[in-house]
Amino acid sequence: MPNEPLVLGIETSCDETGVALARGFELLRDTVASSVEEHARFGGIVPEVASRAHLQAFGPTLQASLDAAEVSLAQVDAIAVTAGPGLVGSLAVGLAAAKALALALGKPLYGINHVIAHGLVDQLVHAAFDGPVLTLVVSGGHSSLLVIDGAEVRQLGETLDDAAGEAFDKIGRLLGLPYPAGPLIDRLARDGDPAAIAFPRALTRPQDLVKHPYDFSFSGLKTAAARWIEAARDDGRDIPLADFAASYAEAVADVLTAKTVAAARDEQLGTVVIGGGFSANSQLRDKAAERCAAAGLDLRVPPIKHCTDNGAMIAAAGAHAIRHGLSPSSLTIGADSALPPTRLVA
Ligand code: KG4
Ligand code: ZN
Repeated sequence: MPNEPLVLGIETSCDETGVALARGFELLRDTVASSVEEHARFGGIVPEVASRAHLQAFGPTLQASLDAAEVSLAQVDAIAVTAGPGLVGSLAVGLAAAKALALALGKPLYGINHVIAHGLVDQLVHAAFDGPVLTLVVSGGHSSLLVIDGAEVRQLGETLDDAAGEAFDKIGRLLGLPYPAGPLIDRLARDGDPAAIAFPRALTRPQDLVKHPYDFSFSGLKTAAARWIEAARDDGRDIPLADFAASYAEAVADVLTAKTVAAARDEQLGTVVIGGGFSANSQLRDKAAERCAAAGLDLRVPPIKHCTDNGAMIAAAGAHAIRHGLSPSSLTIGADSALPPTRLVA
């Protein structure tokens, strides 16, 4: 569609330097450089290391994306960049680059909300949203239930403590698995019995549902799992890794999907979108497919490469903001690690 705006999307909120080009919701190129291996030996992301890696990777990643898409900077109509939430030092690298480009090219700047963008990226894969959609965003830092309705975003619920991905990474550390442990636990879980260990499902009792119908909590689950490991080690028993992982993954997927389906039903929404790095999780994907089908909901989950952090999600969010008439950001916006999940453009 030649009339759609050519949007340059820039993502630097965590450990991935992402640059993408999209014409409307047609993705031309998505280029990602990751510093994840530089953090592995520390068992988690080191903000200083991440910022420096963005500085080194940004120029080459931008050039690679432009070259592969066969477009020049002069053809870009708008620049979208993650403004938050995320690591402030890392966000600042992308924002500085985006502002410089916007100023030099005389093109509008859209400071994008990273969490909402994890849902909007689906429009590059499936069709543009033609009405409100229920969105579950699950990542290393977030677990949120949102209603995205054009330019408006409402948050129905979120995690009160750990994010889903974080709960996997932390328990992985206790098991001695390398960071990030999420994908490894996923793989182990495929060979295990999800009913082997009865892990708790927080905020699902009727009395909890009154106050927290759509909120999540994973810290109790993590503690229960940590105690289970400790008790097994005290008794000199081996941890049955596959059964343990399967039961743990089942507890997380069960609560996430039960609340998502309930929210779609209560809000009378027919489409459910799941995004964010944790939506790569196969136990979550399988359970969401099963429960959405049973409830007659249309489930959209982008392919894994679009679920982890990337520039494509930010380009998609920029195209979405333009399509729905949102105003560009001021060139004076700063990195905002607490950008509310109801605000798409900073
Ligand atoms: O969205 P993302 O790339 O970064 C953040 O914005 O946080 O999400 C990364 C998170 C990590 O916690 C990682 O362990 C988790 O997603 N993750 C997974 C899987 N793939 C990534 N967790 C469980 N199963 C997976 N297959
Ligand atoms: Zn993310």
